[in-house]
Amino acid sequence: MSLDTSTHSTPGVAPEPAPEPAPGSSSLTVFLETFGCQMNVLDSQLVHGQLTGLGYRFIDDWKRADVVLYNTCSVRERAEQKVWSRVGEVGVHKKEHPGVLLGVIGCMAERDGEDTIRKYPQVDLLCGPGELDKLPMLIDNAVRTGLEARGGLRAAKIALQGDTHRRSATLAAAEDKLEMLDLARSFSPDDHQGSAYVRITRGCNKFCTYCVVPRTRGAEVHRPPTHIVDECEKLVDSGVKEITLLGQTVNHYHYDNTQSVELHGHLQPQIGSIIGPNRGTGGPSPTFGAGVTSFAGLLKTICQEVPDLLRLRFVTSFPRDFGDDILQVMADEPRICRYLHLPVQSGSDRMLKMMNRGYTVDEFMDLVVRVRTFLPDAELATDIICGFPTETEDDHRATADLLRRGGFKNSFIFKYSPRPGTAAYDRLQDDVSEADKKRRNNELLAVQNEVSAQVHQAYVGKTIRVFVESISARERKAESRPGSVELGWEKPSDEQVTQLVGRTGGDIIVVFDGDLSLIGRVIEVKIVSAAPLTLFGELVGSPASVL
Ligand code: 5AD
Ligand code: SF4
Repeated sequence: MSLDTSTHSTPGVAPEPAPEPAPGSSSLTVFLETFGCQMNVLDSQLVHGQLTGLGYRFIDDWKRADVVLYNTCSVRERAEQKVWSRVGEVGVHKKEHPGVLLGVIGCMAERDGEDTIRKYPQVDLLCGPGELDKLPMLIDNAVRTGLEARGGLRAAKIALQGDTHRRSATLAAAEDKLEMLDLARSFSPDDHQGSAYVRITRGCNKFCTYCVVPRTRGAEVHRPPTHIVDECEKLVDSGVKEITLLGQTVNHYHYDNTQSVELHGHLQPQIGSIIGPNRGTGGPSPTFGAGVTSFAGLLKTICQEVPDLLRLRFVTSFPRDFGDDILQVMADEPRICRYLHLPVQSGSDRMLKMMNRGYTVDEFMDLVVRVRTFLPDAELATDIICGFPTETEDDHRATADLLRRGGFKNSFIFKYSPRPGTAAYDRLQDDVSEADKKRRNNELLAVQNEVSAQVHQAYVGKTIRVFVESISARERKAESRPGSVELGWEKPSDEQVTQLVGRTGGDIIVVFDGDLSLIGRVIEVKIVSAAPLTLFGELVGSPASVL
């Protein structure tokens, strides 16, 4: 092991010779920063667990790290620009500290491939999101061989799916080593604060014309239900109270138990394909069938098999293929959170068609009505893209109208960002000006703010259950302000009352005063006032009565 760590030794103290570590293990320090979605957050947690198990130590200051990793997102250009600026900074740092190893992992690595290293020779390794199981080996190789041959494509360590990621179902199943990464996750209570993500589906087969995800994350692959339930059980045994199931299109989850292939003692995940047509306008989901675990079946099984789980959530749902069977399971099981993230993207049928979304505005609104019929207390959130190619003022007005009718508790509104490798990038001119995109974005935000304010106001006076996540942003800011201690700020003790933040089952943010022992628990809060995106409340009863 020959990474140059001398720059990190204490001045004046001769560094002790490092003991030779066991193969694959390490005593290096790692800085890992995550960009983008919840899927990336989970990937980073898995990478953290995997590298910690090999002896790597994670630190918060990238300038002191031996290995700097950026887990990246390609969905919009702005997210990428942030990473390039970080990569630039590390490049300057590496001039003085050539032993530092820089890795770009996740979707940008997959999308930009070797071009990254041509443009940024300071990057030592690239690892796509479908290859993260290979990351320890890549780091180890880069450490062992990189120092002699830094500064060129040949020296870089690369694991990308490239053209192989849409291979046959059998091949993919037999080769799905990525499953091992999820299976090997850490269940230490130190790694969660009562809440955890569990992946159920990887990749996406939808090919919305603007979206880079099917290219960077590959074909849809579903994990065996036994693995998912087992993971949920172990998490709950370690103190987790709330689990969020993750997938790009969770409601599309299905696993054919009659077709299971076992390899190395584990069932292999399956490549997804939809069984039968369903436009999501009622009736069961299209994946409902004998021998198949559907998404509704998976939710039911988790609730049955993991009775001590207090809350089960899932993101993201695709508006098509959302059957009543899922809504029925949710209605029957109060532990499943009444929250759906249902990205609509546009309120114009013409835009939806050009985006290849596979549903119309009326079909989407039918789903909203079905949700509210089965689950009158459900909250919905959506995503919108404004300024998609050829979007007119009429299309834009239709989107604003849909936001008014949808009653979403919040919307994530994005300006269209052309992404190389997508159909829209290849075939459509990005012809809505930046000024129009910005104006439309602001107009939609204003509409959504009004709707959000109404949704939140309706909670005032009610007592609701809240899962306590952490101290509030205000307290965190006070804590991190330079000189905060000198200015009189004191870190609250476990018993001291401070401002906390939590979420309702409908994913509404609630701020209230309480002590740190409440974090990771479900409590009751009486709501006294509301802002467009936050409720403010008071703890009800004694903490002893909380779950
Ligand atoms: N431009 C703008 N927004 C995008 N999204 C995905 N791709 C793009 C793009 N090229 C948004 C969609 C999606 C969310 C995760 O990101 O709204 O639902
Ligand atoms: Fe992208 Fe569409 Fe798949 Fe969502 S459903 S990840 S927007 S291709």
